[in-house]
Amino acid sequence: MSEAGAVLMDGNRLRDEIVNELNAQITAAGRPAVCLATVLVGDDKPSRIYVANKQRKAAEAAMESRHVELDAETSQSEVQQVVADLAADPAVHGILVQLPLPEGLNPDAVLELIPPEKDVDGLTPRSMGRLVRGQQGHVPCTPLGVMRLLERYGVATAGKRAVVIGRSTLVGLPQVLLLGRKGVDATPTLAHSRTPELREVCRQADIIVAAAGIARLVTADFVQPGAAVIDVGISRTADGIVGDVDFETVQQVAGAVTPMPGGTGPMTIACLLQNTLSAAQMQGAFPLAVSA
Ligand code: GUN
Repeated sequence: MSEAGAVLMDGNRLRDEIVNELNAQITAAGRPAVCLATVLVGDDKPSRIYVANKQRKAAEAAMESRHVELDAETSQSEVQQVVADLAADPAVHGILVQLPLPEGLNPDAVLELIPPEKDVDGLTPRSMGRLVRGQQGHVPCTPLGVMRLLERYGVATAGKRAVVIGRSTLVGLPQVLLLGRKGVDATPTLAHSRTPELREVCRQADIIVAAAGIARLVTADFVQPGAAVIDVGISRTADGIVGDVDFETVQQVAGAVTPMPGGTGPMTIACLLQNTLSAAQMQGAFPLAVSA
């Protein structure tokens, strides 16, 4: 930490720690096959890069991966057949269907075919229902990655006020549930682009999670001195890819801040791999950890 600046919550570093731990755990168990299947439909370039990164990190964690690639013209029933086959295959422990699907395909009908124990993305209605009801299941990887960063960098949550900006199923909604969970005990507010006086709402927060997808929305005047600010946004602008947080100004006021890139993105992958190992455990394909 520099004298005036915020602690940098380094997602690349924490991702590497988690991948190394997973590798050690799988190696110590004699390297039983733990397999993540990825499904990519169409030729969206960023999606292709995300999926390739997921497979590369799976290999570093001593996991296997299986990849199915379908062209953008694939029919709804063909995509569903591929996912149904992976769901029925006992050698596959986790299934990730990269979103968004090409226009014309219905993602809900595809996701519903993934059984909860293989839903390592935590995005199906059954997994989301379990999260809402406080039942065991896989938790969506991006908001889970945010929680891991807060833990790792010692950001207190109990009794703290948190503001989540953005109400997506992928991030904002599950993030609010995780921050408000028993044991975490923050008091989350769900804000969004139509929240009146968003700046004043954010200035009340000890923790801000910015997930609205609005480039550099959160500037220093949104931030209470010492607050933790986490950037989950990603926008493609004329200046290149930028987050929801104006890092340069915010880091002068915040107590802790994520860089972008190198903050929450790598953590999404780390949590996906953690979910894949726990999926293999749920399916009896990997010994359960014995806690000390
Ligand atoms: N597209 C962008 N982020 C994600 C994610 O976390 N999971 C899936 N399946 N698709 C995504």
